Amino acid sequence: MNRTKIKALLARTAPLEKVLIKGWVRTRRDTKEFSFLEINDGSCLASIQVIVDAGSPGSEHLPDLSTGAAVAVTGEMVPSPGKGQAFEIRSHALEFVGGSGGDAYPLQKKRHSDEFLRTIAHLRARTNKYGAIMRIRSRTSHLIHRFFEEEGFFLIHTPVITGSDCEGAGEMFRITTVKGTTPASEDFFGKETNLTVSGQLSAEMMALALGDVYTFGPTFRAENSHTSRHAAEFWMLEPEMAFCDLAGNMDVAEALIKYVVKGVLETCSEDITLFAKFVDKTLMATLTSLRDDTYERLPYKEAVEILQNAKKKFEYPVSFGIDLQSEHERYLAEEHFKKPVFVYNYPKGIKPFYMRVNDDNETVAAMDLLVPRIGELVGGSQREEREDVLRKRMADMNLPEEEYWWYLDSRRFGSVPHSGFGLGFERLLMLLTGITNIRDVIAFPRTPGSIDF
Ligand code: 4AD
Ligand code: MG
Repeated sequence: MNRTKIKALLARTAPLEKVLIKGWVRTRRDTKEFSFLEINDGSCLASIQVIVDAGSPGSEHLPDLSTGAAVAVTGEMVPSPGKGQAFEIRSHALEFVGGSGGDAYPLQKKRHSDEFLRTIAHLRARTNKYGAIMRIRSRTSHLIHRFFEEEGFFLIHTPVITGSDCEGAGEMFRITTVKGTTPASEDFFGKETNLTVSGQLSAEMMALALGDVYTFGPTFRAENSHTSRHAAEFWMLEPEMAFCDLAGNMDVAEALIKYVVKGVLETCSEDITLFAKFVDKTLMATLTSLRDDTYERLPYKEAVEILQNAKKKFEYPVSFGIDLQSEHERYLAEEHFKKPVFVYNYPKGIKPFYMRVNDDNETVAAMDLLVPRIGELVGGSQREEREDVLRKRMADMNLPEEEYWWYLDSRRFGSVPHSGFGLGFERLLMLLTGITNIRDVIAFPRTPGSIDF
């Protein structure tokens, strides 16, 4: 007999004569005549109640079934007399699959702090909250793929090992070999190589061949930022569109986020309800706004004016030319507009070489999407498609042309206006769940100072 997932069982409206479930014990309660087991198998938030009669087959294992133990139960699914769930399972045969060491099991039935759970990241997905995060993470990932598939984009896979620094910020992890005395970069590839900070430059090459593409994979940044929104390894979604300007770029970002929020609300409601109840009381309002409101679009210059006229005292003073800090970004989205805000046309001096220079020669066609609680969720731009302007900008920024000969080639051969953006996947998950620390929306976080798993 095949096992049935608890999610599928709980979706039923009729009882079942025979069913096999497999999962882990959350709690056990004994009376003289029978024992109650709450079993969870990870397929959904809810556990199902199993009733084991004293003396029934397998009941001799009951003393070993403490929290965390693994079991298989064959039985009948019958209407439940109690409140809560419609059905429960009456065990006909109980099989002991794996013990959990009794009191040694770290996840006893009580609330644990996020800090403690980070020290046992290998076990924390067995809790309600972290199980829910992992299910939402999976669903969100699928929704992203579904959106781009429906919109006619091609999924491309960009390399993790790169020979260039897309963002030009030098925040890269260098690759070396373990054997040998010279770094792999010189030894193996003939040049120094790094873990990718962004798949954008490769994605641009593919967009100029396939039209609309996206890449979605891990990216790496050696920024020593000890914040709740930065990780050294994070997943980035990067669409790139040929024949697309900055406004079209913002349109895609807005449509994507609305699609994902709608999909998550429709298909993860049980898990989302958990976060709305226990993590962030304003979560539903935030998600509804993300799904229904028209996002604000605001030139950087006007954003600076709003911030300068704000009553709020900022830690970093605001003037034209500064890179907006997270306190500024959050103020705009959270307090001033109370909805997502695209800030666009940033000063040229604070942005990378590939962004298209505007006619004012002072700003570039960049856009960041700022959202409540997080700040920057998306960073993107229209790319500089004019070969002469690009060469000049690279020279001004001291970027060696010979390193980017292939990138410049794309501007020599059939260059077209094109745009794209990067969305931090973990930041999107923080937004969707109300979780405030990036370490808690990725299974095994990599942040400065610690790597245990
Ligand atoms: O703004 P960023 O640096 O943009 C790029 O890398 C572009 N090349 C993307 C593109 O146009 N294709 O990063 C994009 C997004 C940010 O808005 C943020 O959400 C996320 O990636 N991000 C991080 N997320 C977690 N930890 C970090 N250290 C992050 N750095 C950026
Ligand atoms: Mg950015």
